Amino acid sequence: MFDGTPLLEWYRRNKRDLAWRSTRDPYAIWISEVMLQQTTVKTATPYYEAFLQRFPAVERLASAKEEEVLAAWSGLGYYHRARNLRRGAQHVVSHHGGRFPKTLEAALSVPGVGLYTASAILSIAYDVALPVVDGNVRRVLARLFALRGPKWKSDGPFYDKAEELLDRGHPGDWNQAVMELGATICTPRNPACPACPLRTVCVARAKGLTEELPESKARRASVDVTVAAALIERKGRVLLVRRAEGRLMGRMWEIPQTSLESKGHADLVREVRERHGLEIEPGPLVARARHAITFRRIRVEAYKSRLSRVPAEDPERLRWAAPAELGTFPTSSLTRKVLKAAAAAQLSLTLEPTS
Ligand code: ADE
Repeated sequence: MFDGTPLLEWYRRNKRDLAWRSTRDPYAIWISEVMLQQTTVKTATPYYEAFLQRFPAVERLASAKEEEVLAAWSGLGYYHRARNLRRGAQHVVSHHGGRFPKTLEAALSVPGVGLYTASAILSIAYDVALPVVDGNVRRVLARLFALRGPKWKSDGPFYDKAEELLDRGHPGDWNQAVMELGATICTPRNPACPACPLRTVCVARAKGLTEELPESKARRASVDVTVAAALIERKGRVLLVRRAEGRLMGRMWEIPQTSLESKGHADLVREVRERHGLEIEPGPLVARARHAITFRRIRVEAYKSRLSRVPAEDPERLRWAAPAELGTFPTSSLTRKVLKAAAAAQLSLTLEPTS
């Protein structure tokens, strides 16, 4: 029988003092878990604190404008998370009187809340006995029991294993202990085995397999793409356009650019005309930036450009933004990286530091 006591004791003594660990408020835990799904602790921490200052309670988030929520999320990426949080907050206010529900079934009905988020919130905030499985948990379990072979390429068996191990008396601490071990000791490369509370029972360590485990999941290969963008300046401000509604950064502001399938002057002129009704004349390449999203590695090539015709004012779709304003409305990370690169390349833009 596996004895998890040393792990729980290790966690209680060594856990990092993270902002969301000083609360049992399900709303705050919800925000933290959603941020942590695609963002590191280091990046998420200041966003978490700022987000809770701006939206201290679920009612405040539910009544916020989408634009305001996206602005608080700017730079974190995967913006559907922010939109879903707002929708989820509206659901919790209208269906549960503002209190995050306590059953798995009701939690899964909250927009944007999937099995991981539901289990994390319910176990941490309410001590409901549900296991969580994320990348850290998979890695810890795969090593601890030397789990390999075709069966362990999908998530189901890991849920069963995590369910079997779960400390039903302390599910919140238990789940966090496993994740914490994966984040700090049982890391993907060079795990700190001598410091591990489970070192004496770890099968991968005994067999010398830590480097080989976990075996990789069947994954979509990543693709390199190049995107062209237009840097258009007027009086120290840069032209931003708004993306259409949609899953990928819908309604965010960005510098005019091509889709992920095209690059170069000709595509840039055509797509900016089709998408935004703007006539541009691209000039020299002035900045490059790199950005990775899901399975794409994007290389942006930004051309200093001119407008052949000044467009009609349309505050819903076009804006001239001063560098200092960039943090006050939702812009994509990619746009901020390009503007930073352009500033570094001595374009006249002087940018505030962005994180
Ligand atoms: N990763 C995501 N959520 C976490 C948590 N609550 N503790 C440790 N690592 C995490």
